[in-house]
Amino acid sequence: MKFKAAVLLLALELILGLILAGCCHGALQVGFYRGKCGFADVEAMVAGVITAQFLRDPTIVAALLRLQFHDCFVNGCDASILIDGINSEKTVPPNLSVRGYDIIDQAKAAVENACPGVVSCADLIAIATRDAVFLSGGGRYEVETGRRDGLVSIAQNVSILGPKISAPEAIAGFADKGLNATDTVLLLGAHSVGVTHCSLIKDRVYNFQGTGSPDPAMDPFLVNILRSRGILQIDQQLGMDPLTTPIVRNLAGEFDFPTRFGAAMVKMGAIGVLTGTQGEIRRSCRATN
Ligand code: HEM
Ligand SMILES: *[C@@H]1O[C@H](CO)[C@@H](O)[C@H](O)[C@H]1NC(C)=O
Ligand SMILES: *[C@@H]1O[C@H](CO)[C@@H](O)[C@H](O)[C@H]1NC(C)=O
Ligand SMILES: *[C@@H]1O[C@H](CO)[C@@H](O)[C@H](O)[C@H]1NC(C)=O
Repeated sequence: MKFKAAVLLLALELILGLILAGCCHGALQVGFYRGKCGFADVEAMVAGVITAQFLRDPTIVAALLRLQFHDCFVNGCDASILIDGINSEKTVPPNLSVRGYDIIDQAKAAVENACPGVVSCADLIAIATRDAVFLSGGGRYEVETGRRDGLVSIAQNVSILGPKISAPEAIAGFADKGLNATDTVLLLGAHSVGVTHCSLIKDRVYNFQGTGSPDPAMDPFLVNILRSRGILQIDQQLGMDPLTTPIVRNLAGEFDFPTRFGAAMVKMGAIGVLTGTQGEIRRSCRATN
């Protein structure tokens, strides 16, 4: 009898443990929203919004890439950059030209209409960016979801790397976020799709489909980097610094830039995420509930 009770207790503890583990330390996963929004397909809904936006303005890919970078590097990928307010992250000078807030608002409106309070703003940034990258010819990667939205957005917390840092400084800054030197080079490849303010431009800006190289297998971004004709000073540094030149050369040689870039985006998208019962699902991406 005593033994039976003990076994029962053990089983109960096991089940409770599993429930608790599932509840509070959820991990990101591909297709987190499957079956969570009635019969609606969350990622397809977002893709609809992004496709319409992209047809109107293809530069949204640059906007969204930079938005995701700035979100993930400050307090983790928790949509803290979207919060409005007199002292929120987006009010800081390096926000300069961060754009795309309205695009996320539109994606949010679509998913809230189908299933209120289910889809996080942090996930919308990741899904929307993936879609824009795909639409601009940058390849398609499976995006992980299950992020929750952060409750804190403070200007003083923003420390985004400057455009004139050295390659070792960039690598150290990315290492702080769990990204290695190869990830750093790959992610800076996003600058090949961007537009920058004239004062910062080092060379012309390519897009993913650009053909700056006689060899179609070689990515124009990497070729330019190797010729030290990167867009920003830091991009040039990657092609000149003994720490990164071999990495750039290797990547340019292999070569499957879109796939490698996608994998690096997934890795960046996992920085400091909130999951399970942490944070919240915001009703409006611009304010905490
Ligand atoms: C060492 C790291 C980085 C530095 C120092 C840096 C710096 C900059 C600067 C100074 C600009 C120009 C902003 C302006 O013209 O107002 C810019 C633009 C941009 N950055 Fe970065 N960046 C870094 C990493 C990244 C990463 C990791 C991504 C994305 C994966 C990214 C995506 C972009 C994009 C797409 C633009 C163009 C934005 C637009 O057209 O609206 N950057 N970056
Ligand atoms: C970005 O920061 C500047 C001040 O540094 C501010 O005037 C501007 O409104 C901010 N942009 C956004 C979208 O909050
Ligand atoms: C952000 O700011 C708050 C309040 O000033 C602070 O408690 C928190 O540690 C900061 N987080 C980071 C990542 O800097
Ligand atoms: C960097 O990380 C990627 C993916 O996590 C891994 O495949 C690669 O081997 C790492 N590279 C280095 C130089 O550590």
